[in-house]
Amino acid sequence: MSTVVAAVPLPAAGWVRRTDVVVVGSGAAGLMTAVALADAGRRVTLVTKGALGAGSTAWAQGGLAAVLGSDDDADLHVADTLVAGAGLCDEDAVRTLVEEAPAAVALLQELGARLDPGPDGRPALTREGGHSRDRIVHAGGDASGAEVTRTLSGALRTRGVEVLEHTAALEALRTADGAVAGLRVARVDGGGALVDAGDLLARAVVLATGGYGHVYAATSAPAGATGDGLALALRAGVEVADVEMVQFHPTVLWTGPGATGQQVLVSEAVRGEGAVLVDGSGRRIMPGAHPLADLAPRDVVSATIAAHLRATGAEHVWLDATTLGADFVARRFPGIVRACRAAGFDLTREPVPVAPAAHYTCGGVLADLDGRTSVEGLFAVGEVACTGVHGANRLASNSITEGLVAARRCAALLAADLPGGGEPVEAGPVAAIEPTRRAAIAAATSRNAGVVRDADGLTRLAAGLAVVPWCPADRPLDLAALETTALHTVATLLATAALARTESRGAHRRSDAPGTRPEWEVRLVHRIDRTGHVHTRRQPVRSLVAAGSVA
Ligand code: SIN
Repeated sequence: MSTVVAAVPLPAAGWVRRTDVVVVGSGAAGLMTAVALADAGRRVTLVTKGALGAGSTAWAQGGLAAVLGSDDDADLHVADTLVAGAGLCDEDAVRTLVEEAPAAVALLQELGARLDPGPDGRPALTREGGHSRDRIVHAGGDASGAEVTRTLSGALRTRGVEVLEHTAALEALRTADGAVAGLRVARVDGGGALVDAGDLLARAVVLATGGYGHVYAATSAPAGATGDGLALALRAGVEVADVEMVQFHPTVLWTGPGATGQQVLVSEAVRGEGAVLVDGSGRRIMPGAHPLADLAPRDVVSATIAAHLRATGAEHVWLDATTLGADFVARRFPGIVRACRAAGFDLTREPVPVAPAAHYTCGGVLADLDGRTSVEGLFAVGEVACTGVHGANRLASNSITEGLVAARRCAALLAADLPGGGEPVEAGPVAAIEPTRRAAIAAATSRNAGVVRDADGLTRLAAGLAVVPWCPADRPLDLAALETTALHTVATLLATAALARTESRGAHRRSDAPGTRPEWEVRLVHRIDRTGHVHTRRQPVRSLVAAGSVA
């Protein structure tokens, strides 16, 4: 990263409030953390950049993976997760996830979630890529995330948790010895200005801010997925890992070469029900590429599509669900059918154009499955965290499950014992990137660090990022600058890691280093120093707690 030459002042705090725990983000992980902490009697303030529940969870179509079928068992779910994770999963974390997933689903039902029932009245189970059994529960057909969000937002409101909507987390407040003791926040007005800034002093801050899909020009993630939490955590001194492991979803509706921002996802569950990928002449492209064909892990499907597009010069392939029957498709996937129709395509009657786009970010703040990070007082759960559960490539529908499991564990930890707290010292200015460069950063990342990368492109990306201008010191910080700065930080780490990792593994594919190499069965872990320099080290893949890398 270029050395910081200018820094803009943080908006001054006009008020101070005390609480036990601040939770940042209102997807599944944030909401569940807040609900469980409130049930344990903790005072919680939930801060969310947009409206309550507007995070990535609300957009999730697939569902939640959990061992619930009579033909399934935990070892199979663990094995499928490890295979997808391509050698970078922490097996202890995976086993914990798998063993606690059924209870997380049950709790969701107790809180009122209406899961789609099967013929026996119990939750129907479906299959997605990489799963050897039917183990995905879903709701509203393809509206699983919306039901999770509805349920947990409702639970939050009935518990009287303080919620600050349209409020941005600007900076962690730290004590003289570096522990996190609260958060500087500000309300985001209609124009993106930061107003009415204040300090939330707390014994713990839990980041549940989601991923960084918008570091790419096109993504299935909603607009808020800009890596703010990850960047804030880095500035607070934590380490982040696996940033190069960005999962591209193979079937994002293709609406033209220049489409940018959030795109329509066509769930893997559509292929789970029997739809197939075909080329322009109707020939299937997945048989022969992997024994699971269209239901191969999504890194394999995305890479196969990318290779096909490169070889043929086509801009997209087609997803054909017509053999499933129009009525079934309309009933099972009402939201996707609606979204496709709005874009001019009828999934029930014709193949629709699809191409891979950035979907889920496996990397993030190095944390264990209880949310502990290397900085006292700072916790991370859900997509913002890198717990080792997903490794180099997340298994489909393990993400909301992970968010709920980690949230419950983190809340239990903080219910039992809060960190020391302490009085924060005044937060300094922050380096901010010129927001007019946001689109250029995303375009360069898409061009040079997509499904398939190589050293030349990644070197170009890193060099370009190093000369992106900083904001002048007299420019007021606003949401656009905050988000662009986070995206620049993420892109820089992504380029650094992808360039260093001279192999192909999971979601990281290098055309100039096509094989998986045993010496790279390690995480790339980064921190940034005060001048903005990136420091990268390798960490063995093993329990994060055992590795002594968390507080
Ligand atoms: C999908 O429905 O295909 C996405 C599910 C997931 O990302 O786990």
